[in-house]
This record gives sequence, structure tokens and C-alpha cells, in this order.
Amino acid sequence: MQVPVAYEQAMARKYPEQVAIAIARDAQGKYNPITLGWTMITSHEPPLMAISIGHTRYSLEVIRHAREFVVSFPTSAMASEALLYGTKSGRDLDKLAASGAKTQSAGVIDGVLLTDAVANFECKLVSELETGDHVLFVGQVVAAHMNEDRTAGRLYSLGDDRLGGVTPD
Ligand SMILES: Cc1cc2nc3c(=O)[nH]c(=O)nc-3n(C[C@H](O)[C@H](O)[C@H](O)COP(=O)(O)O)c2cc1C
Repeated sequence: MQVPVAYEQAMARKYPEQVAIAIARDAQGKYNPITLGWTMITSHEPPLMAISIGHTRYSLEVIRHAREFVVSFPTSAMASEALLYGTKSGRDLDKLAASGAKTQSAGVIDGVLLTDAVANFECKLVSELETGDHVLFVGQVVAAHMNEDRTAGRLYSLGDDRLGGVTPD
């Protein structure tokens, strides 16, 4: 039986939630990563991905300036990097340098890929929509990359600030 509860209480049951990292180049030339839970694929033809960025995030002005970004799917071994990118701001820190993450140049856009990630998608911004306290950016995928090592699984948010892998039932 379903019982009515506060929004926050029901939403606390959503985990595990996928984790993605969006990276865009700021006006100073620094590539800034932000950890995201709110992402989706929203079209196959053309291939489109949507990411939801809060009004307070440095990434909001960075993506509006760059008009292109990489969406990276981190592995379960990349929890500490994802936590750093999701708790520190690029206003104060070069997060990629601080994490020591391996990167490589994107092929089509001016961006970087996370070398150890499961997959990386290069996106060009096609539209944005104000959605309450976040902005939904829609990017068209112009190039896709995947890790040669197919054994690495994706990183998920597990709730209570825990990040880790998920084993299917
Ligand atoms: C697991 C996790 C998921 C997150 N999901 C989002 C999200 O979907 N959208 C968002 O705007 N911030 C999200 N955040 C918070 C941002 O990553 C965080 O505020 C970050 O420090 C912003 O960096 P920036 O100021 O360099 O853009 C998430 C953080 C974590 C740890």
C-alpha cells in the first residue's frame, strides 16, 4: 500500500542514481568538471543529452560561455574524483588538476575526456530551458568515446553522500 509522505521522504528512495560528470572550458581556458545526478538521454536521432545545472553553480556560466561540453560516465573506481568535482567549485579551484585525473583531448569540440571513464560524449549546446532553480541544457552528441576496458562498471550515487558501484540483482 502506498502512503502519503513529504516530497523529500519519497525522493530519498530514488537511489541508486547514475552519476555523470560534465566538463566545459571556462573563459580563462580552464576545463571545469561538475558532478551530476540529473542527466538524461533525450533523443537518439539526432543524439541529444540533457543535463540539469543549478543556478548557483560556476558551471552555469561556463557552459553558457563555452556552448559545448563533455558528458563523462565515471567508473565505480572514480568516486573520490566525483566527490571532489561535486563538492568544490571551479570558481576557487582547478578541480581537474587537484584530482590528478587522467585526461585526453576531445576530438571535435574544445574539451577534454576523462581517460578512465566508462564513456565520454562530446556535446554541442542546442538549447536551454529554465526549470525552477536549475537550467536544463540540451547538447547534441557530436562524438562518442568508450573505454577499451569493458570490465569497469559505472558509478552511482547511493544516498547519504555515498558513491559506489551497483551489482545487478
Ligand atoms: C552525487 C552528486 C550529484 C550532483 N548532481 C548535481 C546536478 O545534477 N546538478 C547540479 O547542478 N549540481 C549537482 N551536484 C552538485 C555540484 O556538483 C556541486 O555544486 C559542484 O561543486 C558545482 O561545481 P561548479 O561550481 O564548479 O560548477 C551534485 C553533486 C554530487 C556529489
